[in-house]
Amino acid sequence: MNEDFVALNEFTWGYRAARTLQVANKIDLFTRIGDKSLSLEQLCDACRTRPAMTEKLLIACAALGLVERDGGFYRTTKRARDYLVKGADRYQGDIIAHSDAVRGFWDHLEEEICLEPPQVDPAAVHRSFIMGMHNITMGGRGRIFEESIDLAATKRLLDVGGGPGTYAILACTSQPQLEAVVFDLPETIAIARQVVEKAGLSARISFCEGDWEKDAFGQGFDAVLMSNIMHGPESMAPMKLQKAFEALIPGGLLIIQEFLLNDDKTGPLTAALFNIMVGAYSARELTRLIEQAGFVQAKLVANDENVGAGWITARKPG
Ligand SMILES: C[S@@+](CC[C@H](N)C(=O)[O-])C[C@H]1O[C@@H](n2cnc3c(N)ncnc32)[C@H](O)[C@@H]1O
Repeated sequence: MNEDFVALNEFTWGYRAARTLQVANKIDLFTRIGDKSLSLEQLCDACRTRPAMTEKLLIACAALGLVERDGGFYRTTKRARDYLVKGADRYQGDIIAHSDAVRGFWDHLEEEICLEPPQVDPAAVHRSFIMGMHNITMGGRGRIFEESIDLAATKRLLDVGGGPGTYAILACTSQPQLEAVVFDLPETIAIARQVVEKAGLSARISFCEGDWEKDAFGQGFDAVLMSNIMHGPESMAPMKLQKAFEALIPGGLLIIQEFLLNDDKTGPLTAALFNIMVGAYSARELTRLIEQAGFVQAKLVANDENVGAGWITARKPG
């Protein structure tokens, strides 16, 4: 992945690591662990915190090199003992608390700079979310897709939750035999139509307005792509995998892109931070769900941990 893109990605999302550290410091996580080895339950009791979110915070702290996980127990690392446990000579918890206290200024920086008060337009918020998907695909993720997924034999690709349609565009651009359908909500399809038209591919990419909670995905596809729509246990992944299975012809190809945690759940950092707000599976957990849906030959074909782009493919049995 291009280093300028990786650097910009870090600048864009840098506040997430800062907030993780500030909140862990605020709940006294490192001092409460100290030189002990505590379970999640013991930590939640000591910090008076909710288990599910505390575990996510601990995964991110592990990815930041601040805690180590040994089975179900957590210990501080040397970095945390040197700088984050109260009483250490080089203790930094007070300056971290100060960075938290002045955070409000940074939240209101726009008001400080602009003559007009900030406007919040829900349509613009949705558009920047969807076009943001286009940005990150064009910024580097798309190249991983092109280099790792072989679509030479594919004729009909379904892109579920396809967003701006960027993957359908890349696939149709490199594969002249291919036609694609983008399945998504009506407000997203309205944006995708514009992106596809600008790419000059309206004749080969069509659209299906639908809601994955209510609608089937159609039938007769020889490939189904599901990119960044199976973010951990809240994402209804088994239902989406089942519908993808039904949409594929025998022998058809399933293609998944996700932020993937490692199997120990101690990182990598990008996926661990994404997991705090949205959710993320480990590669092993997601592979198991894929196999439970009836797919075979599930394998991780690419994983750029810097940006959180893990690609898994599998086949519907022939
Ligand atoms: C994180 S974006 C991923 C977009 C695209 N797959 C990509 O990787 O660039 C999630 C997509 O799921 C779509 N989506 C959310 N809820 C949906 C639903 N209930 N039915 C269909 N699509 C949905 C959103 O509109 C959005 O395009």
